[in-house]
Amino acid sequence: MNDYDETACRLYATEYKDRTEDVDYYVALAKDVGGPVLELGCGDGRILLPIARAGIEVTGVDSSDEMLGRLQKKLREEPLEVRHRIAMTCADLKDSHKLGWPESRLIIAPFNLLLHFHDPDDIVTLLQSISLFAAPDAILAFDVNILSPGVMTSYGSEMKAGHRVAYIDETPVVSWEEASWDPVRQARQVRYVYQWPDGRTESLDFDLRVYGIPELAAMLHEGGWKIEGIWGSFQGAEVGSETTRVIVQCSLQSGKEE
Ligand SMILES: C[S@@+](CC[C@H](N)C(=O)[O-])C[C@H]1O[C@@H](n2cnc3c(N)ncnc32)[C@H](O)[C@@H]1O
Repeated sequence: MNDYDETACRLYATEYKDRTEDVDYYVALAKDVGGPVLELGCGDGRILLPIARAGIEVTGVDSSDEMLGRLQKKLREEPLEVRHRIAMTCADLKDSHKLGWPESRLIIAPFNLLLHFHDPDDIVTLLQSISLFAAPDAILAFDVNILSPGVMTSYGSEMKAGHRVAYIDETPVVSWEEASWDPVRQARQVRYVYQWPDGRTESLDFDLRVYGIPELAAMLHEGGWKIEGIWGSFQGAEVGSETTRVIVQCSLQSGKEE
């Protein structure tokens, strides 16, 4: 249903298996805010599963059958009580106005989910749709790469970055990153290439629309949310000119009115 086919999902799991600081951040936030949690673009459950293991009910939505299939497979290894805390739906969040979820206290959109939306109107519609299913004191939290002077310098026009050797199932695989930046479309295409010992290559591709902080703030405002905090790292660093990723927490504009 989207770009995350069998190869992409397998390579995604390999590429990000050691990425844990965002998992720790979202699990701590879920413990703090409490459930139910809604994860937009939950993928193979890299973050969703640890949230459920922490005792919190969580619903995941993703448009990739392959990703959800991998999550389903992982669930078979989990105790019954963890499985019972998890619900998942295969749906395209571009159709968010047609979708419905249980009322959530925490809504998360980790690791660049919003950048998969190249049309800002789709993001505004998504933000409006989720606000309808948010508890009055709900928190929306997400992290995205941003357009900033630091990013513009590092993106340049084209790049091909260093080779490294990754071990996939004990096989040494050479991998490298290729990227191009389209300053007019504000779009970044990134390809992680993996070359197997027999010369065969596979790649994991991302086509991301990168937004600046003012654009993010305008979309959030139009979508019914207000920014409560914005940080330059999962450890709470201030946002500066070199910041390449922001972590954002929002509350509903209509807030706790009842
Ligand atoms: C970078 S992955 C993040 C997965 C997971 N949240 C994590 O942090 O590992 C982005 C996920 O968003 C999903 N996705 C992208 N566009 C989507 C859309 N329009 N509707 C639903 N899911 C989408 C992809 O299938 C993918 O699983």
